[in-house]
Amino acid sequence: MTSFLLNDTLVESDAPEGTVVLDIVRYHQHLKGTKIGCREGDCGACTVLVGELQNERVEYKSMTSCLLALASVQGKHIVTVEGLNMEKLSMVQQAMVDESGTQCGFCTPGFVVSLSGCCISSEKIDSDTAVRSIDGNICRCTGYKSIERAAAIVADKLANKDAKDPIGWSVKNGFVPAYFSGIKERLKALAPQAPLANTNAITVAGGTDLYVQKHDTMHHSPVRSVFNDEALKGIRIEGDQCIIGGAATAADLMDAPELKKLFPDLEKHLLLVSSTPIRNMGTLAGNFVNASPIGDLTAIFLALNSTIELKGSKGERGLKLKDLYKGYKQLDKSADELVTAVRFTVPNKNTRFHFEKVSKRTHLDIASVNSAVRLELEGEIIREAHVSAGGVAPIPKYLTNTSAFLAGKPISNDTVRAAIKVMNEEIAPISDARGTADYKRLLLRQLFFAHFMELFPEKLTLNVLVG
Ligand SMILES: Cc1cc2nc3c(=O)[nH]c(=O)nc-3n(C[C@H](O)[C@H](O)[C@H](O)COP(=O)(O)OP(=O)(O)OC[C@H]3O[C@@H](n4cnc5c(N)ncnc54)[C@H](O)[C@@H]3O)c2cc1C
Ligand code: FES
Ligand code: FES
Repeated sequence: MTSFLLNDTLVESDAPEGTVVLDIVRYHQHLKGTKIGCREGDCGACTVLVGELQNERVEYKSMTSCLLALASVQGKHIVTVEGLNMEKLSMVQQAMVDESGTQCGFCTPGFVVSLSGCCISSEKIDSDTAVRSIDGNICRCTGYKSIERAAAIVADKLANKDAKDPIGWSVKNGFVPAYFSGIKERLKALAPQAPLANTNAITVAGGTDLYVQKHDTMHHSPVRSVFNDEALKGIRIEGDQCIIGGAATAADLMDAPELKKLFPDLEKHLLLVSSTPIRNMGTLAGNFVNASPIGDLTAIFLALNSTIELKGSKGERGLKLKDLYKGYKQLDKSADELVTAVRFTVPNKNTRFHFEKVSKRTHLDIASVNSAVRLELEGEIIREAHVSAGGVAPIPKYLTNTSAFLAGKPISNDTVRAAIKVMNEEIAPISDARGTADYKRLLLRQLFFAHFMELFPEKLTLNVLVG
């Protein structure tokens, strides 16, 4: 039995735990405001808010209900567009009306839900962050300018939001209905998700890969959701190690002050990964284990020379992330082993890190080719290098030979050009929908240039590099 609050109502569902929340909402609870578009996380028509108790507050995140397992919402508050209705239009609904932000209306519930989520968050909102909150919502007919104007109006109205009590403030100012004020106490009365021991079940975290790849089998399969497992959460620094729980999401990485300090460009890099609702769901371990050759988080953590921690029926072990991949979707991992954490040595003042991604669209698109690099410097010399590349091999590729070649070399045009020759020997891209093999080789070469041009603009000359 899964218990959660759906808008203002307690739901106790005995549906299979692999059922997606979208189907529970529409077909079991008959709330049809949440729409079905793609069922693949791409359109945002099915967006709901998921609220959970954290440090005596209810924190809400937007998620695509088409990929969200029922098992993952035990003890949570799910908000659909119906749960935002009041006697009068809410501030967000009114802004959409005033700016003509809707035509056929199919996408509108998703936009309203996403924008309402940013209203009740403790984050400070300006027009840029308001627009960012709807980066997972697609509209096919209105045109985005009117929706962006509506978002800017909402952001203006949030100027005086009380960051200490955003929900109380939002209730008082007509953003969400009054029942939101009582949700914290009602969630306390609900049991959190019980740890699941069933190792024959399919492990699901955010579901953003599984429900796309195995949509039909997931609904009736036994699942074990690790999405809310506190033992797999958290980001901490211990000595010279940064340790991140396997169930940390891309959004958790973006929000973590520890990581912001270590990687000032991390937010810029992670904004290239999926969209706000998918970043709120997709986890690190899910990215590693789905073993997509173009996984962005995997490319980043390969270049950080990370070690993953695995826990299964035979005990616990550490494994270099680069050694996890044995062949296309073949892993050095038994089915019952969980990735509990990933660790890497924290960068110091001699470390340089950079990530690059090329995709057909800048946002909400998977990579054609991606790459990351971590360099440890000793003066002008590269003491140690770790280079990764995605989209150029059947696995997310740690470039062993290129990394070894760079060690001990000075930072110069000659080094970069010679390293590219080594790199070309150890990649094997194939032609597919994302480009020909030759094109991908060219892309990786350009990304490799970009790493060095970004990190050492004063030491390299682009004309000489490319010539
Ligand atoms: C619209 C959309 C856009 C996307 N864009 C990007 C993108 O730009 N870049 C990118 O890299 N990816 C992208 N993805 C893919 C996906 O979001 C990521 O790969 C995400 O990190 C997967 O994590 P998850 O928690 O959702 O995995 P799940 O789907 O829950 O699981 C994936 C696999 O990992 C296993 N697994 C999960 N957690 C564990 C664990 N702790 N231990 C052992 N096994 C585990 C599952 O059993 C399954 O085999 C996108 C997906 C969608 C739907
Ligand atoms: S239906 Fe398109 S994102 Fe869920
Ligand atoms: S209003 Fe028709 S799809 Fe957005």
